[in-house]
Amino acid sequence: MATKENHSDALVLFGASGDLAYKKIFPSLERLEIAGELDMPVIGVASSSWTVEKMRKRVADSVAHHGQNKDKKAVGRLVKRVDYISGDYRDEKTFSELTQRLDKCGHPLFYLAIPPSLFATVVEGLHKSKLSTTGSVVVEKPFGRDLGSALELDKTLLEVFPEDRVYRIDHYLGKEPVQNLLYFRFANTILEPLWNRSYVESIQITMAESFGVEDRGAFYDDVGAIRDVVQNHMLQELSILAMEPPASSDSSSMRDEKAKLMASIRPLEPQNLVRGQYEGYRKIDGVKPNSTRETFAALRLEIGNWRWAGVPIFIRAGKKLAVDAQEILVRLHRPPHDIFSEPLASNSNHVRFRLGPDRVEIAIGARVKQPGEIMAGNRVELEAASDPSADEPPYERLIGDALKGDQELFARSDAVRAAWKVVDPALAAETPVYSYEPGSWGPSESHSMTAAFDGWHDPEGSSKGGK
Ligand code: BG6
Repeated sequence: MATKENHSDALVLFGASGDLAYKKIFPSLERLEIAGELDMPVIGVASSSWTVEKMRKRVADSVAHHGQNKDKKAVGRLVKRVDYISGDYRDEKTFSELTQRLDKCGHPLFYLAIPPSLFATVVEGLHKSKLSTTGSVVVEKPFGRDLGSALELDKTLLEVFPEDRVYRIDHYLGKEPVQNLLYFRFANTILEPLWNRSYVESIQITMAESFGVEDRGAFYDDVGAIRDVVQNHMLQELSILAMEPPASSDSSSMRDEKAKLMASIRPLEPQNLVRGQYEGYRKIDGVKPNSTRETFAALRLEIGNWRWAGVPIFIRAGKKLAVDAQEILVRLHRPPHDIFSEPLASNSNHVRFRLGPDRVEIAIGARVKQPGEIMAGNRVELEAASDPSADEPPYERLIGDALKGDQELFARSDAVRAAWKVVDPALAAETPVYSYEPGSWGPSESHSMTAAFDGWHDPEGSSKGGK
């Protein structure tokens, strides 16, 4: 829970000269500055031999290209509060200099915007210099590359920082539409009676991206779609969609329920996974010419608990797909007895959550009668939409929460481990990878997975209108 005592009074950014700081972190600090929530020194640390002036210029550039850059006074204040230490993370001197600069600060927040291979070195430096004693730490995904390495990473962090001072960023948890999913479920009574195996036929979660791997070849070829987005973003969404009602909005109640749900997901069996790779992927810079890394994954999961037993959960994620869309479709069973003798092309009753990127919608699918004598109808949706352009960007929210000491929107160690347990068996099995055409819906081998459940849902096509 956020209290005055666990508010940070300094932000230390390791990896301050890197891409993440430039594209995401400084623009978020600009917004926090405008909101008056950044009343503390910001100290960048990196191995680049830059001067403070160069660092400050980088911050101003970052804000000009990726931020709002409207409130010149706020940008000026932000630039002025940034300090810089150029140093090797293995060198004690780097940490003694940091200790001096943090002289008046009792609760620094250390943000590790660095490759995971450097985490242990920095955490050890913080430990030896005793800076960790009252500080907190922010780490970015990937939290390991399988259960074993995630446990190792946890060991490194948790030997030095207690769990209540570790903030694991999965930016999906900070997204407004994902928060709205949680809110909609538990601020209303309409879903709860339906939200179980008696009424839900299947669940589909789609994360389709029309762009490719672009300039992230080397990073992506090391991870692939399952580690990049399924183990984290998509399973976190599933846990919010399917968890039990928490006792309160208190951060530990929320995280307890998410972790419990995550632990109930059955391990992914290799036969329930189809991996794909788009044509042309192997020609990207940094990608191995014979790579078998997946840029697409379609999988079927099941949750082993009383509420969801037997309900198939289909997840589909990939790059260079037909559309850009993130959507959850919860299909309800058809009416048990057909009295209108109407040939139905597909199931009409559903709850649909469009989570972006262009639209945010919550919709309930139903049939209504066509005018006239015949008792036949059309599919319609009752829909609530909102404009995503007004949303607070997830990084701003998450950094602000970490500075306040509020852990709710951060992934907790037990939930992360449980998510690795789900995907580990399928990752180890190294199943075949099928090629697919850019702009398609992935390899044809994945198409039949949902055949017995009305097929895959097309977020741009089948949800509205039609029979
Ligand atoms: C990142 C992945 O975590 O999430 C990317 O590494 C992916 O591959 C991105 O494109 C999607 O995030 P968003 O916020 O654009 O939906």
